Amino acid sequence: MPVAVVLGMQWGDEGKGKIIDLLSQEADIVARYQGGHNAGHTICFDDKEFVLHLIPSGIFHEGKLCVIGNGVVIDPSALAEEMEDLNQAGIDLKNRLVLSDRANIILPYHSVSDRSREKEGKFQKIGTTGRGIGPSYSDKIARIGIRACDFLDENRLREQFHVNYQEKKKILKHLYDLELPDFDSMFRDLLSFRKMILEYIGDTQSLLQKAIAENKKILCEGAQGTMLDVDHGTYPFVTSSSSTAGGACTGLGIPPTKIDRVVGVIKAYTTRVGEGPFPTELHDGDGQMLRDEGHEFGATTGRPRRCGWFDAVVARHAIGINGIDALVLTKIDVLDKFEIIKVCTGYKHKGNVYEKMPADLDCLQNCEPVYTEYEGWMANTVGVTVYDELPEKARQYIESLGKLLGTQFLMISTGPQRNYTIHNGTLF
Ligand code: IMP
Repeated sequence: MPVAVVLGMQWGDEGKGKIIDLLSQEADIVARYQGGHNAGHTICFDDKEFVLHLIPSGIFHEGKLCVIGNGVVIDPSALAEEMEDLNQAGIDLKNRLVLSDRANIILPYHSVSDRSREKEGKFQKIGTTGRGIGPSYSDKIARIGIRACDFLDENRLREQFHVNYQEKKKILKHLYDLELPDFDSMFRDLLSFRKMILEYIGDTQSLLQKAIAENKKILCEGAQGTMLDVDHGTYPFVTSSSSTAGGACTGLGIPPTKIDRVVGVIKAYTTRVGEGPFPTELHDGDGQMLRDEGHEFGATTGRPRRCGWFDAVVARHAIGINGIDALVLTKIDVLDKFEIIKVCTGYKHKGNVYEKMPADLDCLQNCEPVYTEYEGWMANTVGVTVYDELPEKARQYIESLGKLLGTQFLMISTGPQRNYTIHNGTLF
């Protein structure tokens, strides 16, 4: 089984960083397929904590090649900063990191436009990370984006950037009364990243296809989560990329027929940041306790995350859309102090009960979750590494989730450290 996709099943922040870091040990190549530096993957080891935004978590394992695919949008300054942090930590990126020459570049006016749109009362507020992700993907789809390969020819880059600059300047002035810095200084800033981009770009599609032909093991890393997918999430409260399994094909150039396995990472409860519907959200002491016990604050923006019970409607939707054949359950230890734990199995709305994810926002925003209650185990599970050593009620909770979703668990995470994990098989 040489190609596996590992992705989030909720609204992001499922704890993918730690899981991908662990599973990377089995892979030859770790390839990120969508999103940008809106993602925040936290990895803890040797009493240190690293937050990666763009570079795949496999970078912490020597000898693994990390790929940033064509489906990712790259902010050169964010990339340079992340590279510098990794260098400081003694990680050499030479021959370890390849950026797709087809990846679109996030330009400074993208984040200006993202933040201004969010501030302006007349547009729908999404609660974005303000990193320019949406505007950059908009330019990509509008076919006016600038790609990594455009840095090859400085004159052509200048021309392309100039055309875009003129357009953005007018739009930002007209809509938000904002002035962009002058063209020359913006272009100079952009050019300062040319050397770095040219040093790391490559034809990642061919590289990955060759690796598949050589039977190398490839882990395709998803960012955000299924419910933030631009097509299959809670639109318009989503990110602007395809975070579901299909995104691995388009975002890396890997044919669908070559994907052997899809693993879904899911938290033992639910969180989301930003605006948008969240049927099992808790506004009471239980919600606060989930936030406190789970340290639920955004890895990228530091925003407090909204917290709620596990939602099996979301989980089933993710399993269906992604073809998930194994689950990784994270943060089970966060439930250690709850006397009662609830799981949502359907949404009640206007006399109907929905077991499938409705598209209609009115239903998602105004439904009443149908809950099954479980007795909490009220015991410490932090750091448990053997399944049978979990309290009986914790095992019952996990097994009920498995039955409800008809899918097996590949791993169960009992804390942020690498070794706080119960393993039940291998990825490849
Ligand atoms: P954008 O991706 O910055 O455009 O933000 C769109 C939505 O996706 C907002 O609700 C963000 O909070 C959310 N989002 C983007 N990246 C992440 C992530 O890595 N984890 C959780 N939510 C995210």
